Amino acid sequence: MLRAHLAGAVPIRRAAIKSLATYVPPRLLTNADLEKMVDTTDEWILQRTGIRERHIVDPGVATSDLAKEAALEAIRRAGLTPADIDLIVVGTVTPDMFFPSTACLVQDKIGATRAWGFDVSAACSAFTYALTVGSQMVAAGVAQHVLVIGADVMSSIIDYTDRATCVLFGDGAGAVVLGVSDDPSIGILDFEHQVDGSGGPSLCMPAGGSKRPASHDTVEQRLHYVKQDGQSVFKFAVRKTGDICERILQRNNVTAAELDLFVSHQANKRIIMSAAERIGIPEEKVIINIDRFGNTTAATIPLALNDAVMTGRLKKGDLILLASVGAGFTVGSVLVRWGI
Ligand code: UT7
Repeated sequence: MLRAHLAGAVPIRRAAIKSLATYVPPRLLTNADLEKMVDTTDEWILQRTGIRERHIVDPGVATSDLAKEAALEAIRRAGLTPADIDLIVVGTVTPDMFFPSTACLVQDKIGATRAWGFDVSAACSAFTYALTVGSQMVAAGVAQHVLVIGADVMSSIIDYTDRATCVLFGDGAGAVVLGVSDDPSIGILDFEHQVDGSGGPSLCMPAGGSKRPASHDTVEQRLHYVKQDGQSVFKFAVRKTGDICERILQRNNVTAAELDLFVSHQANKRIIMSAAERIGIPEEKVIINIDRFGNTTAATIPLALNDAVMTGRLKKGDLILLASVGAGFTVGSVLVRWGI
């Protein structure tokens, strides 16, 4: 596949991340809390997933509310105002409602008076996909500043009587502002994505869409909650995270040793470490923060990036690999030279 940055002769207009900000709701749901709600233990959750606690919204707080907080701070950190944003791309699987899109709600809440926008539905790959869409818009020269958000209120679609899923997820949001890179070696270098729709039944919310509209029956059967076949998703995620990362590294002639950081979607610590081992990335180059946030779906990668920045593990000029696998199945990877 010919990529714009590989074409050589044409001057490169590359998108770069100009700022990053995240937001999680203050309320904590700990493993000890879950022990009182379902038949589980702190030990099981920690050993099988790496999660200790997650943040959960109060009733009435929606995805656009979390997205707004992250977005306004990201815009401020970029030295811009909301009126400078041309496009808003929101990755989410828990929009406030079917329509209008969360991007429209965020546009209004932050006062991005010049922006257009839309949502990207790719579950746990929503941030890598939204980042790709936004960066291509900047690279194509049709947008100067794109606000890319990954935000989810997973607690709104989790069955807190189902121990197989309720221990896994949390709520959160992350936003980046993309702009034109001053230096073509810095920014979004490449992406590699795939979907495999045959995996759909392994992780889905069965009702509430056009196939099974909400009814007394669907509510009684608890079909408006996340249903997951954990083991098959686990196996797919380990294999595909490795595959997609090897492909993007190979195409860009980058070795695992040249990477400064591996920033994966945070669904399970064991998935991340197995994939890192397969690719040949040592533990000290892997960001893990699932212990504090759980799986926040579209928000995990910006939350992980933020932790990396705050702890001094991610610096200007670092070469980093983002990776995601999620419901769909969706698979994504983005190679980035960090520029802030
Ligand atoms: O981001 C979206 C993508 N999602 C993922 O990537 C998630 C992928 N899957 C996973 O992370 C793991 O499969 C889980 C964490 C969901 C489950 O871990 P596992 O090691 O695959 O456990 P399992 O489903 O094989 O269950 C093992 C045992 C079962 O008991 P038996 O049949 O051996 O008696 C389960 O009933 O653990 C039991 N179990 C629990 N026990 C205590 C399942 N959930 C729990 C729980 N607490 N919360």
